[in-house]
Amino acid sequence: MEVQKIEVDNILNHWKRDKSNLIEMLEDVQEHYRYIPPQVAITIAEELDISMNRIFHIATFYKGFTLEPRGKYPISVCTGTACHVKGGTRILENIMRDLDLEREGQATEDQLFSVESVRCIGCCGLAPVVAIGGEVHGKTSSTKMKKFINKLRKKEQAQ
Ligand code: FES
Repeated sequence: MEVQKIEVDNILNHWKRDKSNLIEMLEDVQEHYRYIPPQVAITIAEELDISMNRIFHIATFYKGFTLEPRGKYPISVCTGTACHVKGGTRILENIMRDLDLEREGQATEDQLFSVESVRCIGCCGLAPVVAIGGEVHGKTSSTKMKKFINKLRKKEQAQ
């Protein structure tokens, strides 16, 4: 997604260009671009007169931020204890392999999917659990996830 100065200005203005709202600004940037683009980080640092280090520290400290684009449908595979016992880690490996991803956080070539492991998303009774684009799938399997991902991909291709 192309970085547009106007969007960055809107975000800065929305938060009154107040340094104490930096995390909220970065949340808006992350939501809009699905990552923190370097050009945006530089603009924010310049506009707020803060160091790039401060932005970099926040962007790497909080798991909600990424410095590379996430897929349109971020996939969170729970590998917490209950899900791991029920095969969560294997599901993670299979999804990564099916999507041809080498590492977590990387987006697929079509920018539709990215995968991350997470530690317990609070519904252990439904283990193993995978969330795709915010939609939680409980008592799932590699096969069910593969079908669901293919369905999403077909839907996107039809648009
Ligand atoms: S361990 Fe997976 S939801 Fe709790």
